[in-house]
Amino acid sequence: MKSLILIGPPGAGKGTQAKKLLEKYGIPQISTGDMLRAAVSAGTALGKQAQPIMASGALVPDDIIIGLIDERLREPDCAKGFLLDGFPRTVPQAEALETLLAEQQVTLDAVLSLDMHIDRIVARLAGRRTCGDCKTVYHVEAMRPRVDDVCDRCGSGLETRGDDTPEAIRVRMQAYQDRTAPLLAYYGQKRLLVRVSAEGTPAEVYERATAVLDRRIRSRSA
Ligand code: AP5
Repeated sequence: MKSLILIGPPGAGKGTQAKKLLEKYGIPQISTGDMLRAAVSAGTALGKQAQPIMASGALVPDDIIIGLIDERLREPDCAKGFLLDGFPRTVPQAEALETLLAEQQVTLDAVLSLDMHIDRIVARLAGRRTCGDCKTVYHVEAMRPRVDDVCDRCGSGLETRGDDTPEAIRVRMQAYQDRTAPLLAYYGQKRLLVRVSAEGTPAEVYERATAVLDRRIRSRSA
């Protein structure tokens, strides 16, 4: 079983790396951002509550997110492990996760932080395009589709995410600094934190990430 957490500022490439890591480690990606966006698209009560909060760039309340994760971690595919992407994002979320995992007798293997200078974030987010149908993520410079604005995988049109506006990006960066960055010290004290630079190509970041994660997983199973 491998239980991993991926944290990092908005646009650091968490989703991009998660897609590659889940293939390597054979575990499901659990992205609270993706779960919330699916609820918004489906027009559920949760989606209606979350939509204006997400559009503003603020964080959705902890109790909602913790309820979502509690349910998701009980699904059968999590028996072989999981990769949490974008959760936890606050200290109360991390504390709640600890309780949930203790109940299931699961221990975390590592918390991988993707570190990126704040100046680079806007360029990453401003260039992001997402397939409106299969949700594959592209970047207008770094990860271009074969045909402009058309998804390579399913042929649908590409869209700009609703919270990739300059104002929402500013709020998201602030939320990261104020509420998520304290998790680096939290997991550092628990000796679970490993950090890699999110600069360079996606392949370079992946090489760095898997080198530290493989070392960490080997040392924990030794
Ligand atoms: P969420 O979806 O988690 O957004 P985020 O953390 O802001 O992260 P992003 O998805 O924007 O970026 P990413 O790091 O995944 O980067 P990506 O791989 O796409 O959350 C959205 C909202 O939901 C929150 O604001 C909040 O409201 C709510 N929410 C979610 N979880 C919550 C929680 N736990 N608590 C409370 N509220 C919560 O890459 C970005 C772009 O860069 C792409 O175009 C990509 O192609 C490109 N790229 C990636 N890597 C590279 C690279 N190495 N070089 C060049 N380009 C790259």
